Amino acid sequence: MTILDGKRVASDVIDSVKLATARLGEMANIAPGLAVVIVGNDPASHAYVSSKSKMAKECGFTSVQHTLPEETTQEELAALVQTLNVDETLHGILVQLPLPKHLNSEPIIQSILPGKDVDGLHVVNAGKLATGDLDGGLVSCTPAGAMIFVKRTHCEDLSGLNAVVIGRSNLFGKPMAQLLLNANATVTIAHSRTKNLAEVCRNADILVAAVGRPEMVKADWVKLGATVIDVGINRIAAPERGEGKTRLVGDVAFDEAAKVAGVITPVPGGVGPMTIAMLMANTVIAAYRKAN
Ligand code: GUN
Repeated sequence: MTILDGKRVASDVIDSVKLATARLGEMANIAPGLAVVIVGNDPASHAYVSSKSKMAKECGFTSVQHTLPEETTQEELAALVQTLNVDETLHGILVQLPLPKHLNSEPIIQSILPGKDVDGLHVVNAGKLATGDLDGGLVSCTPAGAMIFVKRTHCEDLSGLNAVVIGRSNLFGKPMAQLLLNANATVTIAHSRTKNLAEVCRNADILVAAVGRPEMVKADWVKLGATVIDVGINRIAAPERGEGKTRLVGDVAFDEAAKVAGVITPVPGGVGPMTIAMLMANTVIAAYRKAN
Protein backbone atom coordinates (compact mmCIF):
# COMPACT_ATOMS: atom_id res chain seq x y z
CA MET A 1 0.00 0.00 0.00
CA THR A 2 1.22 3.48 -0.90
CA ILE A 3 0.28 6.67 0.94
CA LEU A 4 0.31 9.58 -1.51
CA ASP A 5 2.19 12.63 -0.27
CA GLY A 6 0.10 15.65 -1.22
CA LYS A 7 2.63 18.12 0.16
CA ARG A 8 5.36 16.76 -2.10
CA VAL A 9 3.23 16.65 -5.25
CA ALA A 10 1.84 20.13 -4.49
CA SER A 11 5.36 21.44 -4.02
CA ASP A 12 6.31 20.11 -7.51
CA VAL A 13 3.29 21.97 -8.97
CA ILE A 14 4.27 25.15 -7.10
CA ASP A 15 7.84 24.90 -8.46
CA SER A 16 6.44 24.78 -12.00
CA VAL A 17 4.16 27.75 -11.26
CA LYS A 18 7.15 29.77 -10.00
CA LEU A 19 9.12 28.96 -13.16
CA ALA A 20 6.16 29.90 -15.38
CA THR A 21 5.70 33.14 -13.42
CA ALA A 22 9.36 34.07 -13.86
CA ARG A 23 9.13 33.36 -17.62
CA LEU A 24 5.99 35.46 -17.97
CA GLY A 25 7.80 38.31 -16.25
CA GLU A 26 10.77 38.04 -18.64
CA MET A 27 8.63 37.60 -21.78
CA ALA A 28 5.84 40.07 -21.19
CA ASN A 29 6.66 41.94 -17.98
CA ILE A 30 3.46 40.61 -16.42
CA ALA A 31 2.97 39.27 -12.89
CA PRO A 32 -0.06 36.99 -12.47
CA GLY A 33 -2.64 38.72 -10.26
CA LEU A 34 -5.02 36.87 -7.95
CA ALA A 35 -7.88 38.45 -5.98
CA VAL A 36 -9.40 36.44 -3.17
CA VAL A 37 -12.67 37.64 -1.66
CA ILE A 38 -14.00 36.49 1.70
CA VAL A 39 -17.24 37.60 3.34
CA GLY A 40 -18.00 37.07 7.02
CA ASN A 41 -16.26 35.46 9.96
CA ASP A 42 -16.06 31.71 9.36
CA PRO A 43 -12.69 30.77 10.93
CA ALA A 44 -12.02 27.78 8.63
CA SER A 45 -12.68 29.92 5.52
CA HIS A 46 -10.37 32.65 6.88
CA ALA A 47 -7.61 30.08 7.37
CA TYR A 48 -8.02 28.75 3.79
CA VAL A 49 -8.05 32.25 2.31
CA SER A 50 -4.92 33.32 4.20
CA SER A 51 -3.09 30.25 2.87
CA LYS A 52 -4.20 31.08 -0.67
CA SER A 53 -3.11 34.73 -0.45
CA LYS A 54 0.21 33.77 1.16
CA MET A 55 0.99 31.15 -1.48
CA ALA A 56 0.11 33.63 -4.25
CA LYS A 57 2.76 36.02 -2.88
CA GLU A 58 5.28 33.19 -2.59
CA CYS A 59 4.71 32.36 -6.26
CA GLY A 60 5.53 35.95 -7.25
CA PHE A 61 1.94 36.96 -7.99
CA THR A 62 0.21 40.23 -7.28
CA SER A 63 -1.99 39.03 -4.44
CA VAL A 64 -5.02 40.99 -3.30
CA GLN A 65 -7.33 39.94 -0.50
CA HIS A 66 -10.74 41.58 0.08
CA THR A 67 -12.15 40.83 3.51
CA LEU A 68 -15.77 41.97 3.70
CA PRO A 69 -17.97 42.10 6.81
CA GLU A 70 -20.74 39.56 7.49
CA GLU A 71 -23.44 42.17 6.74
CA THR A 72 -22.18 42.85 3.18
CA THR A 73 -25.12 43.09 0.76
CA GLN A 74 -25.56 41.22 -2.53
CA GLU A 75 -25.17 44.54 -4.39
CA GLU A 76 -21.93 45.43 -2.60
CA LEU A 77 -20.40 42.05 -3.36
CA ALA A 78 -21.58 42.20 -6.99
CA ALA A 79 -20.03 45.68 -7.32
CA LEU A 80 -16.70 44.42 -5.98
CA VAL A 81 -16.65 41.55 -8.50
CA GLN A 82 -17.29 44.06 -11.32
CA THR A 83 -14.33 46.16 -10.15
CA LEU A 84 -12.10 43.07 -10.08
CA ASN A 85 -13.37 41.97 -13.52
CA VAL A 86 -12.16 45.20 -15.15
CA ASP A 87 -8.86 45.39 -13.25
CA GLU A 88 -6.22 44.57 -15.89
CA THR A 89 -3.65 43.62 -13.25
CA LEU A 90 -5.84 40.76 -12.01
CA HIS A 91 -6.03 37.44 -13.89
CA GLY A 92 -7.84 35.34 -11.30
CA ILE A 93 -10.80 36.02 -8.98
CA LEU A 94 -11.88 33.64 -6.23
CA VAL A 95 -14.89 34.25 -4.01
CA GLN A 96 -14.52 31.93 -1.04
CA LEU A 97 -17.53 29.68 -0.43
CA PRO A 98 -19.77 29.23 1.40
CA LEU A 99 -21.04 32.82 1.53
CA PRO A 100 -23.12 33.96 4.52
CA LYS A 101 -26.72 32.68 4.27
CA HIS A 102 -28.29 35.99 3.23
CA LEU A 103 -26.16 36.10 0.06
CA ASN A 104 -26.92 34.22 -3.15
CA SER A 105 -23.63 32.77 -4.41
CA GLU A 106 -24.76 31.65 -7.87
CA PRO A 107 -25.29 35.10 -9.51
CA ILE A 108 -22.00 36.26 -7.94
CA ILE A 109 -20.04 33.31 -9.36
CA GLN A 110 -21.68 33.68 -12.77
CA SER A 111 -20.76 37.39 -12.85
CA ILE A 112 -17.03 36.62 -12.70
CA LEU A 113 -15.47 36.80 -16.18
CA PRO A 114 -14.97 33.17 -17.32
CA GLY A 115 -11.33 33.91 -18.15
CA LYS A 116 -10.73 35.01 -14.55
CA ASP A 117 -12.81 32.23 -12.94
CA VAL A 118 -9.91 30.31 -11.40
CA ASP A 119 -12.41 28.19 -9.42
CA GLY A 120 -13.81 26.78 -12.69
CA LEU A 121 -17.37 27.37 -11.46
CA HIS A 122 -18.66 29.62 -14.24
CA VAL A 123 -21.06 27.80 -16.59
CA VAL A 124 -18.68 28.51 -19.49
CA ASN A 125 -15.85 26.67 -17.71
CA ALA A 126 -18.12 23.89 -16.39
CA GLY A 127 -19.52 23.54 -19.93
CA LYS A 128 -16.08 23.34 -21.54
CA LEU A 129 -15.14 20.57 -19.11
CA ALA A 130 -18.42 18.76 -19.79
CA THR A 131 -17.83 18.89 -23.55
CA GLY A 132 -14.27 17.65 -23.21
CA ASP A 133 -12.53 20.98 -23.95
CA LEU A 134 -9.95 20.52 -21.21
CA ASP A 135 -7.46 23.02 -22.57
CA GLY A 136 -9.83 25.88 -23.34
CA GLY A 137 -11.31 26.63 -19.93
CA LEU A 138 -10.35 26.55 -16.27
CA VAL A 139 -10.96 23.41 -14.20
CA SER A 140 -12.03 23.51 -10.56
CA CYS A 141 -8.91 23.27 -8.36
CA THR A 142 -9.68 20.36 -6.00
CA PRO A 143 -10.77 17.90 -8.73
CA ALA A 144 -7.83 18.99 -10.90
CA GLY A 145 -5.52 18.22 -7.96
CA ALA A 146 -7.19 14.90 -7.21
CA MET A 147 -6.84 13.96 -10.87
CA ILE A 148 -3.05 14.45 -10.69
CA PHE A 149 -2.96 11.72 -8.01
CA VAL A 150 -5.12 9.43 -10.13
CA LYS A 151 -2.97 9.90 -13.23
CA ARG A 152 0.28 9.45 -11.32
CA THR A 153 -1.07 6.19 -9.89
CA HIS A 154 -2.57 4.77 -13.07
CA CYS A 155 -1.79 6.58 -16.31
CA GLU A 156 -3.33 9.21 -18.55
CA ASP A 157 -5.78 6.62 -19.85
CA LEU A 158 -8.16 5.00 -17.36
CA SER A 159 -9.83 2.71 -19.94
CA GLY A 160 -11.44 -0.32 -18.31
CA LEU A 161 -11.32 1.10 -14.78
CA ASN A 162 -14.41 1.72 -12.65
CA ALA A 163 -14.41 5.03 -10.80
CA VAL A 164 -16.91 5.98 -8.10
CA VAL A 165 -17.22 9.57 -6.89
CA ILE A 166 -19.24 10.01 -3.69
CA GLY A 167 -20.62 13.57 -3.76
CA ARG A 168 -22.27 15.62 -6.51
CA SER A 169 -21.35 19.24 -5.77
CA ASN A 170 -20.57 21.74 -8.53
CA LEU A 171 -17.26 22.49 -6.80
CA PHE A 172 -16.06 18.91 -6.65
CA GLY A 173 -18.22 15.85 -7.44
CA LYS A 174 -19.48 16.87 -10.87
CA PRO A 175 -16.16 18.18 -12.26
CA MET A 176 -14.29 15.19 -10.77
CA ALA A 177 -16.65 12.82 -12.57
CA GLN A 178 -16.13 14.74 -15.83
CA LEU A 179 -12.34 14.54 -15.52
CA LEU A 180 -12.47 10.78 -14.88
CA LEU A 181 -14.86 10.34 -17.80
CA ASN A 182 -12.56 12.35 -20.07
CA ALA A 183 -9.79 9.92 -19.12
CA ASN A 184 -12.04 7.02 -20.26
CA ALA A 185 -12.93 5.64 -16.81
CA THR A 186 -16.40 4.15 -16.32
CA VAL A 187 -17.84 6.62 -13.83
CA THR A 188 -20.56 6.40 -11.19
CA ILE A 189 -21.59 9.46 -9.17
CA ALA A 190 -22.97 8.32 -5.82
CA HIS A 191 -24.59 10.57 -3.22
CA SER A 192 -26.77 10.67 -0.13
CA ARG A 193 -29.73 9.11 -2.00
CA THR A 194 -27.74 6.23 -3.49
CA LYS A 195 -28.93 2.77 -2.43
CA ASN A 196 -26.39 0.15 -1.36
CA LEU A 197 -23.59 2.71 -1.25
CA ALA A 198 -21.06 0.29 0.25
CA GLU A 199 -21.70 -2.18 -2.55
CA VAL A 200 -21.39 0.52 -5.23
CA CYS A 201 -18.06 1.61 -3.70
CA ARG A 202 -16.69 -1.96 -3.55
CA ASN A 203 -16.89 -2.00 -7.34
CA ALA A 204 -14.51 0.96 -7.63
CA ASP A 205 -10.93 0.68 -8.87
CA ILE A 206 -10.77 4.41 -8.11
CA LEU A 207 -12.85 5.58 -5.16
CA VAL A 208 -13.16 9.31 -4.52
CA ALA A 209 -14.94 10.45 -1.36
CA ALA A 210 -16.25 14.02 -1.01
CA VAL A 211 -19.25 13.89 1.28
CA GLY A 212 -18.20 15.82 4.38
CA ARG A 213 -18.99 12.90 6.72
CA PRO A 214 -16.08 12.01 9.02
CA GLU A 215 -14.65 8.53 8.35
CA MET A 216 -17.78 7.31 6.56
CA VAL A 217 -15.97 5.07 4.06
CA LYS A 218 -15.01 1.89 5.90
CA ALA A 219 -12.55 -0.85 4.96
CA ASP A 220 -15.31 -3.12 3.66
CA TRP A 221 -16.38 -0.41 1.17
CA VAL A 222 -12.97 -0.59 -0.51
CA LYS A 223 -12.03 -3.06 -3.26
CA LEU A 224 -8.71 -4.81 -2.62
CA GLY A 225 -5.93 -2.76 -4.22
CA ALA A 226 -8.16 0.22 -5.08
CA THR A 227 -6.95 3.81 -5.34
CA VAL A 228 -8.72 5.81 -2.62
CA ILE A 229 -8.80 9.61 -2.84
CA ASP A 230 -10.14 11.33 0.28
CA VAL A 231 -11.41 14.86 -0.30
CA GLY A 232 -13.08 15.29 3.09
CA ILE A 233 -11.75 17.69 5.71
CA ASN A 234 -13.71 17.21 8.94
CA ARG A 235 -12.79 18.52 12.37
CA ILE A 236 -13.80 16.11 15.12
CA ALA A 237 -13.38 16.01 18.87
CA ALA A 238 -10.16 14.31 20.04
CA PRO A 239 -10.49 13.85 23.80
CA GLU A 240 -7.42 11.55 23.70
CA ARG A 241 -5.34 14.68 22.97
CA GLY A 242 -6.76 16.52 25.96
CA GLU A 243 -9.94 18.28 26.89
CA GLY A 244 -11.50 20.38 24.11
CA LYS A 245 -8.91 19.22 21.54
CA THR A 246 -9.87 18.43 17.95
CA ARG A 247 -8.24 16.72 14.98
CA LEU A 248 -8.79 16.64 11.23
CA VAL A 249 -10.08 13.49 9.56
CA GLY A 250 -11.26 12.75 6.05
CA ASP A 251 -14.37 11.02 4.75
CA VAL A 252 -12.44 7.73 4.77
CA ALA A 253 -11.67 5.70 7.91
CA PHE A 254 -7.97 5.90 7.02
CA ASP A 255 -6.36 3.28 9.26
CA GLU A 256 -8.72 0.47 8.29
CA ALA A 257 -9.15 1.48 4.61
CA ALA A 258 -5.35 1.66 4.19
CA LYS A 259 -5.16 -2.08 4.94
CA VAL A 260 -7.29 -2.82 1.85
CA ALA A 261 -6.41 -0.01 -0.58
CA GLY A 262 -3.49 -0.14 -3.01
CA VAL A 263 -2.97 3.60 -2.87
CA ILE A 264 -4.58 6.12 -0.50
CA THR A 265 -4.40 9.83 0.28
CA PRO A 266 -4.12 10.94 3.92
CA VAL A 267 -5.96 13.79 5.66
CA PRO A 268 -4.37 16.18 6.30
CA GLY A 269 -1.55 16.22 3.73
CA GLY A 270 -3.33 14.62 0.77
CA VAL A 271 -5.71 16.46 -1.53
CA GLY A 272 -5.74 19.64 0.62
CA PRO A 273 -2.33 21.03 -0.43
CA MET A 274 -3.19 20.22 -4.07
CA THR A 275 -6.20 22.58 -4.05
CA ILE A 276 -4.01 25.60 -3.33
CA ALA A 277 -1.35 24.47 -5.82
CA MET A 278 -3.93 24.09 -8.60
CA LEU A 279 -5.37 27.52 -7.79
CA MET A 280 -1.89 28.96 -8.41
CA ALA A 281 -1.62 26.90 -11.61
CA ASN A 282 -5.01 28.18 -12.85
CA THR A 283 -3.99 31.78 -12.13
CA VAL A 284 -0.75 31.50 -14.07
CA ILE A 285 -2.65 29.83 -16.97
CA ALA A 286 -5.18 32.70 -16.96
CA ALA A 287 -2.31 35.22 -17.00
CA TYR A 288 -0.58 33.48 -19.96
CA ARG A 289 -3.86 33.49 -21.92
CA LYS A 290 -4.22 37.22 -21.30
CA ALA A 291 -0.63 37.84 -22.41
CA ASN A 292 -1.06 35.95 -25.71
N1 GUN B 1 -14.57 26.57 -0.19
C1 GUN B 1 -14.01 25.35 -0.01
N2 GUN B 1 -13.27 25.00 -1.09
C2 GUN B 1 -13.37 26.04 -1.97
C3 GUN B 1 -12.83 26.26 -3.26
O1 GUN B 1 -12.11 25.45 -3.85
N3 GUN B 1 -13.17 27.45 -3.83
C4 GUN B 1 -14.00 28.34 -3.23
N4 GUN B 1 -14.28 29.47 -3.89
N5 GUN B 1 -14.51 28.16 -2.04
C5 GUN B 1 -14.19 27.01 -1.41
